[in-house]
Amino acid sequence: MLLPPLQPDFAAEVTGTDLAQPLTPENLAALKEITARHGVIVFRDQKNLSYDGMRRFARLFGQTSDCASITNLDAQGNIRDRDDRDSRHARGDTVWHMDMLTLEAPHLMGFLKAKELPASGGETEFADVTQAWQRLPETLRDKITGLRAMHSLDAARRRAGLTDPADIANQYKPTSHPLVTIEPFSNRPALLFGAHTSHIEGMDTAESGQLLEQLLALATTGALVYKHRWRLNDLLVWNNRRVMHRVRPYDLVKERRFLWRMVVEGERPPAYLRKSA
Ligand SMILES: [Fe+2]
Repeated sequence: MLLPPLQPDFAAEVTGTDLAQPLTPENLAALKEITARHGVIVFRDQKNLSYDGMRRFARLFGQTSDCASITNLDAQGNIRDRDDRDSRHARGDTVWHMDMLTLEAPHLMGFLKAKELPASGGETEFADVTQAWQRLPETLRDKITGLRAMHSLDAARRRAGLTDPADIANQYKPTSHPLVTIEPFSNRPALLFGAHTSHIEGMDTAESGQLLEQLLALATTGALVYKHRWRLNDLLVWNNRRVMHRVRPYDLVKERRFLWRMVVEGERPPAYLRKSA
């Protein structure tokens, strides 16, 4: 059952659907439509859904890749030291970002299933970058249409307050993407930027920094943001071209947080180029 949108036209909650069971063609069509319309979908009570089942479900949307779990636990299931390499790496998730903008073809979708949760904190927030675009003043839309931005892991880590060895910073080479792209589920324009965005190409550093801050402030405010308060066995699906996301803090050294993760691969983001006049 689809519950009313958590925000207008954005983020929906589905209950009473066991994704471990085969979907009827009608249910599958309905779920795809909901996913296209809302960008973030919360499927509650998926306790029967195995990792393989999550992969089978994700494959309905495209080619999948398995990913490391999102967690503060080590391979033995113990809470990691807060300053070890993986913990530092995870701190980058606390800053507004879109996944893997450092790739030529960033992921199209993300899937997370909650296996262990902290008593408080650790929510995931999503911000709708298609509605953000629609709300921009026309002069600002015209100013940024056609611009391109560079993205690097180093930029994301600096924004998260981290300085790390070059072997992390240089894991991916900086990548260029259009600042405004076309979100493929709805073919609507969407902003494409986040923590990884180092600068806007061809713009001086101060102006580029100011513009990125202005866009971030406009995109992550009020009803453009959905804050997901996790429950055990939630499966959360998001469209990585439709939303930015970030994790809220929790007690990393006392609480346990463990979420299975999977992605659907994406294409190279096309540029949206139409100006208003
Ligand atoms: Fe992420």
